[in-house]
Amino acid sequence: MSKKFLDKSYDLETQEATLAHYDQWAASYDAEIAENGYATPGRIALALAKFQSDMSEPVLDFGCGTGLSGLALRLQGFETVDGMEPSARMLEQARAKDAYRQLTQIDAADRQPIPKGAYRLITGCGVLGTGAAPPAVFDSILHALPRGGLFAFSYNDHALEDPAYTGKLNEWLDCSAARLLFREHGDHLPGINLKSTVYVIEKA
Ligand SMILES: C[S@@+](CC[C@H](N)C(=O)[O-])C[C@H]1O[C@@H](n2cnc3c(N)ncnc32)[C@H](O)[C@@H]1O
Repeated sequence: MSKKFLDKSYDLETQEATLAHYDQWAASYDAEIAENGYATPGRIALALAKFQSDMSEPVLDFGCGTGLSGLALRLQGFETVDGMEPSARMLEQARAKDAYRQLTQIDAADRQPIPKGAYRLITGCGVLGTGAAPPAVFDSILHALPRGGLFAFSYNDHALEDPAYTGKLNEWLDCSAARLLFREHGDHLPGINLKSTVYVIEKA
């Protein structure tokens, strides 16, 4: 049986520790996550499709990991999916799936990894939260979106308990800089009884 990583995923304290964790986990991530019934990629893809009829428009899968989230977007009918990810090993796995048009390794310390205005559709599946990207990344994604652009993302129950993450979302919504189109709490990893809320927001 391969080494397990999931139970260590939610108390990583620095970006360095996070990237080392995902580099080590990359080869067995898909199997361990599938074992636990990973549901959020399909939920995000379905939610985004409710607000986007032109399926040829490129989608950026930010923090794409091994590519499960990109695969779900392709299965939902999105024809052109690009991925960005800081872990070289996770990216190697994503490359092997052949679901992406383009994959880019980003520096997790870069404050603006997404070129401004490059994508009108961005997803962040399991990316923003304790043990993954810090709350400031929320701002950098929203700053990169053009007006009218959509961000479909998830917060798992751990992120939902952390006011720094929910606060970031509310900062944008409360001043009408973004509009909430969709919110649904549902399965994330049923195998460990963890749920997530999927959101779709539109930049004003
Ligand atoms: C739980 S995995 C989710 C991967 C993929 N989206 C999925 O649904 O399987 C979290 C991913 O976020 C990436 N990540 C961590 N910090 C990040 C950052 N600052 N910016 C972008 N991605 C980051 C990790 O390397 C990891 O691949």
